[in-house]
Amino acid sequence: MTPPAAAASASLPRHPTQEVLDQAGRRGPFHYGDRVQVTDSKGRQHTFVLDPRGYFQSVRGSFHHREVVGLEEGSVIVTATGHELLLLRPLLADYVLSMPRGAQVVYAKDAAQVVALGDIFPGARVLEAGVGSGALTMSLLRAVGPQGHVLSVERREDFAAIAASNVDSWFGGHHPAWELRTGDFADVVAAHVTPATADRVVLDMLAPWENTEAVATALVPGGVLVTYVATVTQLSRTVEALRHSGLFTEPVSWESMVRTWNVDGLAVRPDHRMVAHTGFLVSARRLAAGSRPLTRKRPPARGAYDEGGYWVAQDIGERTSTDKKVRRVLRDARARQPLDATPVQPGAAGDDDVHGAEPPSRHCLSSRPVPDPHGAGA
Ligand SMILES: C[S@@+](CC[C@H](N)C(=O)[O-])C[C@H]1O[C@@H](n2cnc3c(N)ncnc32)[C@H](O)[C@@H]1O
Repeated sequence: MTPPAAAASASLPRHPTQEVLDQAGRRGPFHYGDRVQVTDSKGRQHTFVLDPRGYFQSVRGSFHHREVVGLEEGSVIVTATGHELLLLRPLLADYVLSMPRGAQVVYAKDAAQVVALGDIFPGARVLEAGVGSGALTMSLLRAVGPQGHVLSVERREDFAAIAASNVDSWFGGHHPAWELRTGDFADVVAAHVTPATADRVVLDMLAPWENTEAVATALVPGGVLVTYVATVTQLSRTVEALRHSGLFTEPVSWESMVRTWNVDGLAVRPDHRMVAHTGFLVSARRLAAGSRPLTRKRPPARGAYDEGGYWVAQDIGERTSTDKKVRRVLRDARARQPLDATPVQPGAAGDDDVHGAEPPSRHCLSSRPVPDPHGAGA
């Protein structure tokens, strides 16, 4: 893995419109180029970028973008039709819901778990795959900060380009701690990661168990692996593979559920609806070379080490997007690229054949307004 100092020195200049990374570069009154989130009195949200010629239009009121420039964030305006509209800059959790997607994203509730329980710290060297739409990448970059390093690996070149556009757009240009490579995770680790240099590895992919050895090679002794999987079958296979390798501590598996509440006078109760499932998380720590896991009190249960066949996204019920839709999202993403767009670099020699090998995983959505602040609108 490239050491943080080297990564920082090789970084590209900041985007001319934003000197400071992330939200810190967006303080103060609204100005052109800012992303604005409009909330109407029904709680419906829309996001747009302030443009000198722009005009915002909705069934609950319209206005020229120029009327917003100079207003403080948190202003409520009353439109010519008498509608009230609240104007804020979106938070990262909001942006993830509205940004264009190639692959399904990790929502804030799970990204928070990855960062906190995966112990992603400022200055950490993190290895991540797959990048998908770049949602989790943004949380990782925030957590490591400019002094850290995130090497993100994505098998699909089109998804990597969409993620680069989303991440650059959020940070206001190329994040100096970010290195984005295409290719298969294990190949990129072999080609670009010095053994035992990654503090943390974060996997969100179809078959993480195929990469147990590559993860063990990359991690420092005591380093943390966090894996996000969508189904129980993936969870089981991942845990058994980690155990079977003998290279990690006993894996810990969990899920998080967020239930929002209605709090209004005496009517205080959970909301009737919630997202009951997003994914499962598995974490384990790398043992020192030559050490074996602590002896288990109970012998492995039956079927623990199934060496079953090749998995495809459809096996686990993932919805897939059409190539046409991905091409459209990619075309839009390329049109929005900043001057210092994050370069999408090849991961390893001869990996051209893997690009586009896997169909789009989970479903593809275009930019849309979603009101739920916990990412519950999956
Ligand atoms: C669900 S998406 C990741 C979403 C991402 N975490 C986000 O928050 O936007 C899974 C991605 O993993 C990629 N992938 C699957 N297996 C891979 C592998 N072995 N190496 C690299 N990328 C892989 C897929 O192409 C897909 O884009």
